[in-house]
Amino acid sequence: MAGECELTVARERLSEAASIAVLTGAGISAESGIPTFRGAGGLWKNYRPEDLATPEAFARDSRTVWEWYLWRRSLIDASGPNAGHRALVTMEQQHARFTLITQNLDGLHDRAGSRRILKVHGDIWQSRCVACSYQRKDRALEYPELPPPCPECGEPLRPGVVWFGEALPRIVWAEAERAVSQADVLLVVGTSAQVYPAACLIGMARFVIEVNVEATPVSSRVAIALQGPSGEILPALV
Ligand code: APR
Repeated sequence: MAGECELTVARERLSEAASIAVLTGAGISAESGIPTFRGAGGLWKNYRPEDLATPEAFARDSRTVWEWYLWRRSLIDASGPNAGHRALVTMEQQHARFTLITQNLDGLHDRAGSRRILKVHGDIWQSRCVACSYQRKDRALEYPELPPPCPECGEPLRPGVVWFGEALPRIVWAEAERAVSQADVLLVVGTSAQVYPAACLIGMARFVIEVNVEATPVSSRVAIALQGPSGEILPALV
């Protein structure tokens, strides 16, 4: 568990910060019962990203891809934000200049009450057409047929998420880069820092505090590495 001294220094650095950026990954939702991708019990232990999280996989077998995302939606729907998500809401309320950048699709930051969220990998609660510009917020946990047809043009709808090999949403990414480059502190929570370009943000920051249950490829380069579950550490930082 993170030492009291590191926690104190991190807490002081955050409270003095005029602007804060936060980058979260699947680890912040682990204590809500949502599986992560890598590490113990990670989704990529039992599934292959190339079968489920690429445009080619969807073109090849949209039914299986949709079944996997609907299963993930059902897990999230049965879950809820944890103390880590709520601590970031408090931190946002304490800082006028605060930007939450998340790689997560689950919407748990929204449900916790975070307001300024940049979703660099999209949103599992969005569906959009592969062919036209149609998109919608979508809480469906099942559809009469898979893939669901676009109500505008009849082509398949897909989950509103960024798959491997796809570009991140351009405007969202530009805002994320700006937020990190202008932040006094970047708080990196629950990410293995292995997926790019999201992981690039970490190298852009002036001062990085990492919260993770284990060491990551960036741990040796950050200013403060707080080891422990985010559901316990984040409340101790606000
Ligand atoms: N508290 C803090 N960190 C945790 C906790 C916890 N309770 N539980 C797990 N972790 C850490 C793990 O040690 C790991 O470093 O969370 C990290 C999760 O890493 P990944 O599973 O790789 O998730 P993430 O970094 O978000 O993946 C990035 O990869 O598959 C794609 O698009 C997907 O957005 C995802 C991207």
